[in-house]
Amino acid sequence: MKQYKQLFSQFLESPHKHFAAHSHHYWPDVSLKATTDYWQLSKEKVDQKWGEIFGPKLKELRQLISKQLGFKKSEQLVFASSTHELVYRVLSCYFGKKIKILTTDSEFYSFKRQAYRLQEVGAVELIEVPLEPFDNFEERFLQTAQQESHDFVFLSHVFFNSGYVVDLDQTLKELTQNTPPVFIDGYHGFMAVPFDFSKYEDKIFYTAGAYKYAASGEGCCFMYVPSNFTLDPVYTGWFAGFNELSSEFTQVHFPKDAQRFMGSTMDYTPMFRLKAYLSELESKNISLSEIQQYINSLKEFFIENLSRSKYAFLNEDTLLLPPGLCGQFLSFKMATEELCKGAHEQLSKDRIITDYRGCVLRIGFGIYHDQEDLETFFKT
Ligand SMILES: Cc1ncc(COP(=O)(O)O)c(C=O)c1O
Repeated sequence: MKQYKQLFSQFLESPHKHFAAHSHHYWPDVSLKATTDYWQLSKEKVDQKWGEIFGPKLKELRQLISKQLGFKKSEQLVFASSTHELVYRVLSCYFGKKIKILTTDSEFYSFKRQAYRLQEVGAVELIEVPLEPFDNFEERFLQTAQQESHDFVFLSHVFFNSGYVVDLDQTLKELTQNTPPVFIDGYHGFMAVPFDFSKYEDKIFYTAGAYKYAASGEGCCFMYVPSNFTLDPVYTGWFAGFNELSSEFTQVHFPKDAQRFMGSTMDYTPMFRLKAYLSELESKNISLSEIQQYINSLKEFFIENLSRSKYAFLNEDTLLLPPGLCGQFLSFKMATEELCKGAHEQLSKDRIITDYRGCVLRIGFGIYHDQEDLETFFKT
């Protein structure tokens, strides 16, 4: 257990009791060297740095990410600074034709806001399946998929507002038998909930980023593009057209692989940070299932000790989901948003950092926590 903490010395020095690891993980020590490595490369190679970044550096990162997710075609991964950019680029493949998107009522704002706006201007129609009740979500989602015609499917692996983990095996097995592309928002699953996507890699899009459980900060997001998806984006960046740079062109051509979803000039320091962290986990033989097991033990310890909690609003009745059904955070549902805000403020006054969405207070764990850290909720 000790070895996890050692990767994050700034956590040990922090005056805060930070339990919003589901939102923003502490950065591991290796992220500092990764940042200066990027600086050094820029200083030494100037314009020539791009060859190295787009060559060996991103290739290695694609392979590290693919290993975590089970993707065999790592070249089908493309990077951007946000998932919003990548998702919008895929949706733009359909511009000019109104499409029906089958989704849920619990997608993160990044997708929901954009999808609602597209619906307002008549570009899409949304079919939203309620996430709750949790116990038959998959069944209801699949039933709707059968009953309602649709052109595209978008859903989270782990929901941001409750932590509920979708039974992806059951869901993808059925969904991918139909033709519409399936897009998985994996942000709360990546480096938190292991899942082997190899069986579905020719059929699904997948996006996630480094800010949360991958502990590498903002600015590094990626998307896996299924090789059988052949449409080209309308919203296109010039990095997708590197082959055309030296000639005058009258038509926009796209590479066949995932790089046709590239955007424009951006900072790749965040990609160096993610590469450094994933490499470090690999070199220390710390697997994702080991991480999950460790976090599950923290969640269970937290729940077993709830009766000792200093905070009355943290109890078995407000606990939204048992630890086995949720990702790396626990959710406590209050009767009103006001009460939830109050609970969050009470914790903040004690310098315990959490966050909330609507009526749901979220308490998130990282591998740098141990049972001693959790005592802060129990000791008076
Ligand atoms: C489920 C989910 N998807 C996506 C994002 C991030 O979206 P973006 O990269 O567009 O800022 C988050 C961030 O909190 C999230 O929780």
